[in-house]
Amino acid sequence: MPDAWSPDSWRRFPAEQQVTYDDPAALSEAIGRIRRLPPIATSWEIEKLKSQLAAAGRGERFLLQGGDCNERFVDCESHVIDAKLKILLMMSAVLTWGGGRPVVRVGRIAGQYAKPRSEPNETRDGVTLPAYRGDLVNSIEFTPEARRPDPLNLVRAYNRSALTLNFIRSLLAGGFGDVHHSALWDMKWAVSSEREAEYHTLLRDMQAAVRFLDASVGRPLGELSVVDFYCSHEGLHLEYESAASEQPPMRSAWYDLSTHMPWIGERTRRLDGAHVEFFRGIQNPIGVKVGPTMAPDELVQLVDTLNPADEAGRITLIVRMGASTVHTRLPPLLDAVRRAGRFVTWCCDPMHGNTFKTASGIKTRHFDDIVREVDANFEVHAAAGTVLGGVHFEMTGRDVTEVLGGSCGLTEADLLRNYESDVDPRLNYAQSLELAFLVAQRLRNV
Ligand code: PEP
Ligand code: CO
Repeated sequence: MPDAWSPDSWRRFPAEQQVTYDDPAALSEAIGRIRRLPPIATSWEIEKLKSQLAAAGRGERFLLQGGDCNERFVDCESHVIDAKLKILLMMSAVLTWGGGRPVVRVGRIAGQYAKPRSEPNETRDGVTLPAYRGDLVNSIEFTPEARRPDPLNLVRAYNRSALTLNFIRSLLAGGFGDVHHSALWDMKWAVSSEREAEYHTLLRDMQAAVRFLDASVGRPLGELSVVDFYCSHEGLHLEYESAASEQPPMRSAWYDLSTHMPWIGERTRRLDGAHVEFFRGIQNPIGVKVGPTMAPDELVQLVDTLNPADEAGRITLIVRMGASTVHTRLPPLLDAVRRAGRFVTWCCDPMHGNTFKTASGIKTRHFDDIVREVDANFEVHAAAGTVLGGVHFEMTGRDVTEVLGGSCGLTEADLLRNYESDVDPRLNYAQSLELAFLVAQRLRNV
């Protein structure tokens, strides 16, 4: 029987990737401010997402989770947010229309500000400073002042998350996701892509179908004009996550109200660790990253600890193995979870197992490896008779050059042209949309 849970019980467990602040009074002050601020997400939205993720786990819906590896404070600007939302909505239209299932849209947005790091420090030209851990903690510039963890960043991150989600909600409430408005679906194909024609055909077909339905019903279909959208981030910084957790009025349990769907990263998922302790007590649907070293019995214990009541939609396992590892490593995990009789929603992150450095030292991924990992997931699930319930991508609405390949044909020489990410390489919008088409094709054949 585990000990009683409280929003602070994680403090009794070893916590990885946490931050040491040199001014504890300033940290308490920042935490106190976050506790008093209104929530970013509400418990009823969170419960609605949980039921949609349960449906994705049964194959009745499909999860599209995507966004930056690392959201930046400087990117809290209307045109940047607008571009991210637009590409996610386009991908979801492609998946709904082409894949034939309603899509659950979850951004890595409005709070994806904390990054786990493999080394606590970074050394450049003989100078060693604390590693950059995301804007939630410190700043990226390589100076002692910038790298000093600043507790006020927690409040800044909370405020920007609220601003971001507020803008997204307003755009969607105003019909930004409305399939009737073709102008909103217009995208600038800066790089020529074979997908451009395919995209326009899909758009025309989709709009014809909507016109047909409108005409049949005799009025515009209201349901299609406001779409659901949820946010997610890695729940890495436990001071921050616990400060944002509440027991909402009329509810008997705790929710992390900093986001809809927090996830536990690959580096912090140990069974006896502080992250698992914190996450087991909140009611949100949660993601858990599952890498190639996860043992089947360890996974079952993790699922048991995090979801003892076996509530559907509570756990999404975000598998990130690397394209060549899925066929050997995933089947035993599917088998173990099935034998244990546990309900989970399986999702594929084809990004994090496929990162490598080019000869000139640039961190990248190849589009073909990403597609191979998605394909391997579909194949393994088909063979096991289980359901692939979604995908998880690092992507952006901009024309960046961070991932090699795709029908826009990015080469190593192109990487230098427009590489913006400070952490992991993201799909640009043409690559993102192309991937949505490929996933939709696979989904149609399931
Ligand atoms: C991430 O999603 O950016 C990340 C760090 O992933 P993982 O925990 O799977 O390595
Ligand atoms: Co990443």
